[in-house]
Amino acid sequence: MDLFRAHVLVCCGTGCTSAQSLKIIDRMEEELTASGLNKEVKVVKTGCFGLCAEGPIMVVYPEGVMYYRVSPDDIREIVTEHLLKGRYVQRLMTVSTSVPLDQARNVDESDFFKKQMRIALRNCGIINPESIDEYIAHDGYQALAHILTEKIKPLDVIDQIKKSGLRGRGGGGFPTGLKWEFAARQMNEQKYVCCNADEGDPGAFMDRSILEGDPHSIVEAMAIAAYAIGANQGYVYVRAEYPIAVKRLQGAIDLARSYGLIGQNIFDTDFSFDIEIRLGAGAFVCGEETALMRSIEGKRGNPTPRPPFPAVKGLFGKPTILNNVETYANIPVIINKGADWFAGVGTEKSKGTKVFALGGKVNNVGLVEIPMGTTVREIVYDIGGGIPAGKAFKAVQTGGPSGGCIPASLLDVPIDYDNLVAAGSMMGSGGMIVMDEDTCMVDIAKFFLEFTVEESCGKCAPCRIGTRRMLEILEKITSGHGTMDDLDNLERVALAIREGSLCALGQTAPNPILSTMKHFREEYIEHVVDKKCRCGVCKGLTTYTIIADLCKKCGLCAKRCPVNCISGVLGKEPYVIDASQCIKCGACEQACKFKAVVRR
Ligand SMILES: Cc1cc2nc3c(=O)[nH]c(=O)nc-3n(C[C@H](O)[C@H](O)[C@H](O)COP(=O)(O)O)c2cc1C
Ligand code: SF4
Ligand code: SF4
Ligand code: SF4
Repeated sequence: MDLFRAHVLVCCGTGCTSAQSLKIIDRMEEELTASGLNKEVKVVKTGCFGLCAEGPIMVVYPEGVMYYRVSPDDIREIVTEHLLKGRYVQRLMTVSTSVPLDQARNVDESDFFKKQMRIALRNCGIINPESIDEYIAHDGYQALAHILTEKIKPLDVIDQIKKSGLRGRGGGGFPTGLKWEFAARQMNEQKYVCCNADEGDPGAFMDRSILEGDPHSIVEAMAIAAYAIGANQGYVYVRAEYPIAVKRLQGAIDLARSYGLIGQNIFDTDFSFDIEIRLGAGAFVCGEETALMRSIEGKRGNPTPRPPFPAVKGLFGKPTILNNVETYANIPVIINKGADWFAGVGTEKSKGTKVFALGGKVNNVGLVEIPMGTTVREIVYDIGGGIPAGKAFKAVQTGGPSGGCIPASLLDVPIDYDNLVAAGSMMGSGGMIVMDEDTCMVDIAKFFLEFTVEESCGKCAPCRIGTRRMLEILEKITSGHGTMDDLDNLERVALAIREGSLCALGQTAPNPILSTMKHFREEYIEHVVDKKCRCGVCKGLTTYTIIADLCKKCGLCAKRCPVNCISGVLGKEPYVIDASQCIKCGACEQACKFKAVVRR
């Protein structure tokens, strides 16, 4: 085996790949060869490190120095300075946001990683996802080997999962062990194990990152689940927009089969199991479990009533379990480290960690994995580095279109399934969007509702018609024509949709509205009564004016105005906006360097 004195890890997740990380690898290999270091330094293509907005990211070991926003032109300097002379390239070591240089010196010491705990993402950014040997070297397939070769009984495996307290990471938080037990207890020759990698929530990308960075962990976990419930066939339902994830997962399945880790008589036992990939076309509703199974069957992806639950009658009418990618990623660790170890992390009713896709108005944007019980404040300020431009925190949205907004007064609530529901939101699959003082909460509710209206499958009337009615009311309010009656109607329709819809898409669609009405009711009232959007976001309630005293008479705003509704005399008279003609495009505000244009 070759030994190397240094390893250069380059992120090749979707974000960094689109920012030239493959070119960086080529350049690194060229430079290492040119300087005679190619036998001493190994370049490793890895999955995502998490700090996506700072990519392409490179980590040099053994020091663990992380370089951000690396470009192919930086490679020669990294080789000649760091790898040849041991001098770090300091200019590439500071993230463009809040982490001070001395703290960013080592990956694990940086603010972004210090409060994180990586269980599901344990191998992402650490191993080459295309190498089964690297996965095996990081305890990969050890859990599967343990249960098969030591003949652990299927119900004992399930017991471990139940004892660990693992709950589904795909949204609902259903106890994973219990789901497996229901399926295991069904007497049927044919059962199925499915993995939900549809990941439809806007902004969420943890499942993609796990599949891209650690696909074998899903293959191993599905095999364990299959053994536990008595299945011999698995399907992974992945959205087709994830080509790198699909390629790496297929590669992992093929390699695992060639190593005898899936397929016939695994580890020379009588357990056989194989996996196939099915591509989804990107409909949000196809992430719902019954719709997903219809889609795998080749039918239209419409939800069907439950019961019967999939554990009894699922894919092709057979007992089936469906788990989310992140749920599966925890399974091998639970078997390897023990249920008690896992249950020791997190809160009383929510064990382990949760991965969030942190985005919006926060300095450090990316994937973060935190122990359950971490507060929103710790995520936003300690890990996320706070709000850019010194703006005030307003809310954080979790759970995507099914979730809600958590206001500043709940910043110190420990995050777990139950606390988020009590706060009027939900865990969802892990989207976390931070909003600052400039975010209009009525507009945010409208944004999520537009998504659900677009994605409703139309099968049941409360969701198909009701979500559209709610959107119409919100449009009326944001265009300045809302009344107090509209607020009452909005709540009434929301509650009816929640009660009457067939699947969770409709049942949860009102959440963004109900939670913003609960926590930010005064903003709704301002829109309706005062005809004012305090953030200047809702066009129907916004006016642009020029403050004469601040105007330097430069004329730039008038040049940029697409409808020529700004007049004035260059160098002589302050400029003025004709409000009756203004289309509220905001070009004048952006053009004025003297802050003379104000939006109200
Ligand atoms: C409209 C809708 C979309 C969903 N999308 C996803 C998804 O993309 N990924 C996912 O894992 N679960 C999704 N779910 C939840 C699944 O129906 C199911 O509960 C989950 O995959 C079960 O896995 P878990 O127990 O490991 O969370 C969605 C549910 C609904 C109602
Ligand atoms: S709730 Fe919406 S998405 Fe679900 S079945 Fe009804 S119409 Fe379709
Ligand atoms: S760009 Fe600003 S300073 Fe110049 S004319 Fe317009 S408002 Fe006045
Ligand atoms: S907002 Fe747009 S349309 Fe209105 S005055 Fe400014 S540039 Fe002209």
